[in-house]
Amino acid sequence: KTIALIGVPTDIGAGARGASMGPEALRVANIQGMLEDQGLTVIDKGNLVGPSNPWQPPTNGYRHLPEVKAWNESLHEAMYEELQKGHLPIVLGGDHCLGIGSISAVARHCRDTGKKLRVIWLDAHADFNTSELTPTGNIHGMPVAVLCGHGPDELTHIGGTVPAMSPADIRQVGIRSVDAGEKRFVHQEGLEVFDMRYIDETGMKHTMTQALADMDDNTHLHVSFDVDFLDPDIAPGVGTTVLGGPTYREAQLCMEMIADTGRLASLDIMELNPAFDIKNKTAMVAVDLVDSLFGKSTLMRNES
Ligand code: ARG
Ligand code: MN
Ligand code: MN
Ligand code: MN
Repeated sequence: KTIALIGVPTDIGAGARGASMGPEALRVANIQGMLEDQGLTVIDKGNLVGPSNPWQPPTNGYRHLPEVKAWNESLHEAMYEELQKGHLPIVLGGDHCLGIGSISAVARHCRDTGKKLRVIWLDAHADFNTSELTPTGNIHGMPVAVLCGHGPDELTHIGGTVPAMSPADIRQVGIRSVDAGEKRFVHQEGLEVFDMRYIDETGMKHTMTQALADMDDNTHLHVSFDVDFLDPDIAPGVGTTVLGGPTYREAQLCMEMIADTGRLASLDIMELNPAFDIKNKTAMVAVDLVDSLFGKSTLMRNES
């Protein structure tokens, strides 16, 4: 399997500047060398280009909608092209509004190939806001709603088919910050959310067993990893930290259980913000976890 790294240096959908530096921080943390050490072939496609961040207040409930559209259309095309080549794309974000371009491409590829889509959304946030519900207008709080068809035509139509996916295709893990209106909408649409209380009460092992249930050989598994999923103690380098996230050990188990399915076919690494980081430690933790996601294990390593 060949891995394609796609850098998307923008913070266009975020409420803080700096996620635009995420791709380079992940490269500095040696994401390519780590994957190559696992015997994988890696092509770094470099960075996409797009509009700069005008840093404007929201209009009609959205900040930077034209710029968010431009970045996501460009990511959609790049991602779709890599999937068509049979590559496993890794998006180096960039803020989480880019989940729209990324996952709409994965969904389109699944329709082409008759695969069943499963998205594992690792995040502190549900990212299920709409322009009516959002307290901020920041589109990084909206990608899951947009992918499920709730949002402006400029974004819901990226990839051609609306909605790109259904709430039944996604499982969210690690959630601990959901806005009031967003919470009602999550219940109304029937999103499957394994929040931190669920993880506290039942453990990460049980949680991931549930989140990964009902997949088969025909499933394309996409992981959208918002680095703010992690506890801020181990991952301070994000714009929207929320206390009480998974520990390093819980996060490792989560990644290892995903690796064990053998179904991982595309990945986003989002919201890494070096402006908030300490000596690039969050990027290094993210790369270390992605190592586990691609099958590194201490003793049970399959030396094939
Ligand atoms: N719910 C908040 C909002 O809508 C925060 C969203 C944070 N999203 C993220 N991808 N970090 O603004
Ligand atoms: Mn997110
Ligand atoms: Mn988040
Ligand atoms: Mn429409």
